[in-house]
Amino acid sequence: MALKIIHLPDADPAEHQRFLSEGELLSRLVHPNIVRIVDFGTVGDHPVEVGGHRFDRETPYIAMEWLQGKDLAQRQQEKPLNLHQALDCARQVAGALGTAHAAGVVHRDVKPSNIFMLSGNADVSVKLVDFGVAIADALTGGSVAGTPAYMAPEQARGEPTLDARCDVYSLGATLFELCAGRPPTREVEDRIAKLCADPALPLIAAALDRQNDSVHSSTSRNRSDRGGRPGW
Ligand SMILES: Nc1ncnc2c1ncn2[C@@H]1O[C@H](COP(=O)(O)OP(=O)(O)O)[C@@H](O)[C@H]1O
Ligand SMILES: [Mg+2]
Repeated sequence: MALKIIHLPDADPAEHQRFLSEGELLSRLVHPNIVRIVDFGTVGDHPVEVGGHRFDRETPYIAMEWLQGKDLAQRQQEKPLNLHQALDCARQVAGALGTAHAAGVVHRDVKPSNIFMLSGNADVSVKLVDFGVAIADALTGGSVAGTPAYMAPEQARGEPTLDARCDVYSLGATLFELCAGRPPTREVEDRIAKLCADPALPLIAAALDRQNDSVHSSTSRNRSDRGGRPGW
């Protein structure tokens, strides 16, 4: 089992609340590509010791299934996925997001380190983790939360309402990174454009070109061009 707790002893009540909301949102979601929650809450009257760490009263925790493997940020550093594997991951995360969105939950922080790749499977098998900044049921975002390199423009602008399309963007940016090795910042887009145009690398160019439409439409700056559902 994996335990997620707040590390800061003096975390404020809003931080505690956000943590419990992660547990609450996650407990609404059951999908083979979403980490399974076991329990969440706050430590009761008696302090608890787990793995040599002492957790005092009122410490919020989330207990989840233990995942064996590596998140995609670690995996990309060690042994980058090939295009086929990257697309497989994106499809699985798209399925997970479809379930979250149908339940009114927007993840808001889809990125390689929040996608966990299980080891020991012949095929690629991933689980979406970290609903720490997720929102639900058209609750307004208000504050800017997420990770800049993968954040949809409307999210970065702090627009008051966010919907599934910000996850569509972040998944597109993640797929871009899995294919290109870097998130789609301007500098990298320029490099990839050059790479695709370079006749010395026809195989890579052809492979990326086949995915061009989905990568580009899902990372459109204008959310109305992105479509409401993630999918490849
Ligand atoms: N259930 C789990 N089993 C094993 N490792 C996990 C699990 N959930 C998360 N992790 C690992 O811990 C890291 C941090 O967890 P995460 O929920 O993303 O917290 P944070 O809010 O600190 O980003 C993830 O990037 C992943 O590598
Ligand atoms: Mg995380």
